[in-house]
Amino acid sequence: MKVSVIGLGYIGLPTAITFSKFGHDVLGVDVNETVVSTLQEGLIHIEEPGLQDEFQKVLSNGKLRFDLKPTKSDAFIIAVPTPFKNVDDKSCDLSYVESALDGVLPLLEKGNTIVIESTIPPRTTEDILKPLIENEGFIVGEDIYLVHCPERVLPGNILKEMINNNRIIGGVTEECTQKGNEIYSSFVKGELLLTDSKTAELSKLMENTFRDVNIALANEIVKLGNELGINALDAFELAN
Ligand SMILES: NC(=O)c1ccc[n+]([C@@H]2O[C@H](COP(=O)([O-])OP(=O)(O)OC[C@H]3O[C@@H](n4cnc5c(N)ncnc54)[C@H](O)[C@@H]3O)[C@@H](O)[C@H]2O)c1
Repeated sequence: MKVSVIGLGYIGLPTAITFSKFGHDVLGVDVNETVVSTLQEGLIHIEEPGLQDEFQKVLSNGKLRFDLKPTKSDAFIIAVPTPFKNVDDKSCDLSYVESALDGVLPLLEKGNTIVIESTIPPRTTEDILKPLIENEGFIVGEDIYLVHCPERVLPGNILKEMINNNRIIGGVTEECTQKGNEIYSSFVKGELLLTDSKTAELSKLMENTFRDVNIALANEIVKLGNELGINALDAFELAN
């Protein structure tokens, strides 16, 4: 399968390398010229244990290239940033996702799949991204398959987690979910959890919120431990 991975940061680069490792013909795309030229020289620009070695191995099979723009592909995987808009307006800035999708729209052909791996608010895929594709005259679910597949890897162990984690596959329609399932089953050894795009988005919000709340809780207990002269890390170990 021909795959364009758009956005080559902590998520996109290991994703591109993994797709290539499992036999796909991959084009890695980034708007940052330094990122693209560094990768074209055979070096990686992010820190992740084992990634440079894995990169070296897949480069030798000739199925991983880099460019500033995507080309026609069977699947487009979008892994660009989705930060807060600004310090006051903490809603999600979707401009990177929209711009990445903009670059894909003129290349689309019937049967192509677009996967959004970026973390996005619930209903974004269905309410914001699907209409952009349908404005081009395609029917999502019949002509083009649109899937949200939230990324759940933890930096430091990305290469293993990308293959072994369970993965949520949320299509806008059942046909979209099935396409996503086909694509990810080519390399994921964890379970593929099939759902719709909005449930996938809400589940990612739940995962991130759960982690945030638990980090805050741990911080509060450490502060309490400091006040009371107790080593909270010992207490955590016992509690765990
Ligand atoms: N890093 C993580 O641990 C992690 C985990 C789960 C989910 N996510 C989500 O994955 C998404 C990507 O995160 P990341 O950490 O890989 O970001 P990152 O900042 O490391 O990399 C993003 C890359 O996208 C490029 N980019 C921006 N706009 C582009 C465009 N229009 N076309 C092509 N490339 C473009 C940037 O130049 C950059 O190299 C975010 O939505 C993030 O929330 C990240």
